Amino acid sequence: MAPVNANPNPAGAREHDQVEHPMKTYAIVGLGHRSHMYLGALTGAHASDGRLIALCDINPGRRAYAEGLAKAAGLAPATFADLDDLLAATRPDRLIVTVPDHLHASCIVRAMHAGCDVITEKPLTTDPTGAAAILAARRETGRSLIVGFNYRYSPIRTLFKQVLMSGIIGHVQSATFEWLLDTHHGADYFRRWHRNKANSGGLFVHKATHHFDLLNWWLGTVPRRVTAHGRRVFYRPETGDALGLTDRGPRCTGCPAFARCGFRLDVAGSDHLTHLYAATEHHDGYLRDACVFSPGIDIEDSMNALIEYENGIVANYTLTAYNPCEGYRVVFDGTRGRAELLNIERQAVNPDGSLVRPVPPEQDRITIQPHFARPYVLDIPPTTGLHGGGDAVMLKRLFAAPSNDEYGHLADERAGAWSAMVGMAANASLATKLPVDLASLVPDVPHPDHAPNPFGPAKIWQTFDPANYPFLRGATVL
Ligand SMILES: NC(=O)c1ccc[n+]([C@@H]2O[C@H](COP(=O)([O-])OP(=O)(O)OC[C@H]3O[C@@H](n4cnc5c(N)ncnc54)[C@H](O)[C@@H]3O)[C@@H](O)[C@H]2O)c1
Repeated sequence: MAPVNANPNPAGAREHDQVEHPMKTYAIVGLGHRSHMYLGALTGAHASDGRLIALCDINPGRRAYAEGLAKAAGLAPATFADLDDLLAATRPDRLIVTVPDHLHASCIVRAMHAGCDVITEKPLTTDPTGAAAILAARRETGRSLIVGFNYRYSPIRTLFKQVLMSGIIGHVQSATFEWLLDTHHGADYFRRWHRNKANSGGLFVHKATHHFDLLNWWLGTVPRRVTAHGRRVFYRPETGDALGLTDRGPRCTGCPAFARCGFRLDVAGSDHLTHLYAATEHHDGYLRDACVFSPGIDIEDSMNALIEYENGIVANYTLTAYNPCEGYRVVFDGTRGRAELLNIERQAVNPDGSLVRPVPPEQDRITIQPHFARPYVLDIPPTTGLHGGGDAVMLKRLFAAPSNDEYGHLADERAGAWSAMVGMAANASLATKLPVDLASLVPDVPHPDHAPNPFGPAKIWQTFDPANYPFLRGATVL
């Protein structure tokens, strides 16, 4: 298809930046919800770090909405309905990939072969074929790939990384990781494309890739084998019936049970959702608010996995998507003690399914207990913004590219593959009811670079000395 506006840099559109400060040029493919974080950065806080030259989406309404926001910021990106046309006409330095998960691999591979570096949203991809294709394209083209694992960048999770790198709890031997999605956030995965495994890989891939990446990054190792269980126990027609919503319709808009349903999404009540989805659905039939109790859902909402790592660590992972509260708990047990990170992102959801306003601050607590010592509760850094404060820090790393990366935040295709493959192995284990080796899915995946550990785990026979651990300053001893 011909470009809708093929001139990537019309007169007056920040040409002075081009001449005086040669900046990387950017394009975005997939102009739905997530793209607006990158769009907002390139038209706002990071407008002087990169120049947005092109936008692509199959939906003309979402294309026009994004183009309008860019124009309001003084930019005039070319717009395209087809990625290959965009790549041929504008040759951006970097392509940002924010299409649904099952389309990531195709976009990444095409962009790399067209000579672009790529920033992709998580998960890297949804299946072994996609992972192998991306790794091959990376090898063949030498282009770079960054996976937007925003969860890594949150100041609290970075502090937890610092704790583990310090060696204070010795050699980690086992981990427990429980993630709770509440009925506001969790339900959202059952309304649109995520609800089908062919699109998202299910929550083991789509959502848990964040969590598996955190485990790989915190532990500085790679997973070897996964044994999984998973069921859909809640987002089923039977639950809708049991809640007395027997007169429900196929979607929230126009649903006879709307006013009585605690799972409703009020698209009309949000300008942003209306612009993105309600006003554009006539182009492609994409419904943002399909009923969460529809029979057509085929992903799990209740999942468990036992993950064995190359260095012998075993992790026990749980994810549920219908909780009254939202948050997580991760515990590492080591040869010198124990470290726990507890987060309550939201304590409760309103009876109508909306969020409590004003949004209360998240509650975080890191507890460290060395052997033969009282437990310490750390002084927690302040956070602002979405995803535990991770989004803003990640955007700075992506666009302003500060040189230091002492905690190894930046994730490439290897880290993306190792986390997505845990989910793929979990899906394979659900199908076979057997443990699945990651190497049987995609062989010879290179290990990611791990942040250097300057101290190494404390020796079990050494006397514990709090002075060796700067993060204990300001900690409360229980
Ligand atoms: N890191 C995070 O915290 C986070 C949060 C939300 C979403 N995401 C990720 O961002 C990605 C997008 O999610 P979303 O919620 O924005 O989805 P979305 O459905 O709102 O947006 C996807 C967009 O891609 C477009 N699209 C579909 N096929 C296309 C094609 N062939 N070519 C061009 N455009 C196409 C759709 O029209 C839509 O506008 C997903 O991979 C998701 O996992 C990450």
